[in-house]
Amino acid sequence: MGEQHWNHCLITGGSRGIGFAIARRVARRADKVTLVARDRERLQQAAARLRDETDTEIATVVADLSEFEDVRTVAALLDREAVDVLVCAAGVYTTAPADEANVADWDRMLEINLRAPMHLARAAAASMSQRGTGAIVLLGSVAGRNAFPGNSGYCASKFGLRGFAESLFYDVRDAGIHVCHIAPGMTATDMTRDTPGADPGRMMSPETVAEAVRFAISLPDNANLMNLDLWPQRDVFSG
Ligand SMILES: NC(=O)c1ccc[n+]([C@@H]2O[C@H](COP(=O)([O-])OP(=O)(O)OC[C@H]3O[C@@H](n4cnc5c(N)ncnc54)[C@H](OP(=O)(O)O)[C@@H]3O)[C@@H](O)[C@H]2O)c1
Repeated sequence: MGEQHWNHCLITGGSRGIGFAIARRVARRADKVTLVARDRERLQQAAARLRDETDTEIATVVADLSEFEDVRTVAALLDREAVDVLVCAAGVYTTAPADEANVADWDRMLEINLRAPMHLARAAAASMSQRGTGAIVLLGSVAGRNAFPGNSGYCASKFGLRGFAESLFYDVRDAGIHVCHIAPGMTATDMTRDTPGADPGRMMSPETVAEAVRFAISLPDNANLMNLDLWPQRDVFSG
């Protein structure tokens, strides 16, 4: 454990929030980091910031992970470029009572939060198993184990991701592939900025979540951090 070095880390949702904090945290210890998101300008800004901070090669890929063709493009890149750390941090969140929810919002959450990580992890695992090493980090949520009102679609996507991650680990552990499901509670990012009644001062910082990811992928080869629930210490809603 400690001075781990990675060849190529690919981070979906790496342009901002938790994904960007993870990119910053791992960049100094990687030969190459690839950021994936939709907004080209935000991606370029993020990449420029990382290049200011490190000599690591930084690449960007514009992709909409709700589109299956874009998922396939990123999946192909995982094998072609021998990515040894895949971090799936891209995610979306909408809230509504289940009986009033917009089903298009449900579909988007399932596509981006669950379907895309499943397909990317599958592709990464197939590629990594040939090399006998690698790490797949899936950003879940405490809403993937605890249900909250108004979160039916989000909870469905994140409960699903938790189950997928655990099953994946059992399937690929003997191939030397780490699978880490990191499940944060409220973290101060764009996603939570306008949450009614929530105190941003009580939320975790994206850097804290990034440190947990770094820890998870720095464990010795014979240990795997399977699930990590990371809660804000104080109740974000009772300030
Ligand atoms: N913040 C929290 O309190 C919290 C708590 C628990 C779990 N999480 C999970 O942690 C992960 C990161 O959340 P965050 O708070 O950092 O969110 P965020 O600040 O809103 O950032 C989301 C990232 O995902 C990208 N993204 C969104 N839709 C995409 C799409 N269709 N295709 C490709 N990229 C897309 C965004 O870039 P573009 O918009 O440019 O595409 C951005 O880089 C998510 O999976 C989220 O569910 C967050």
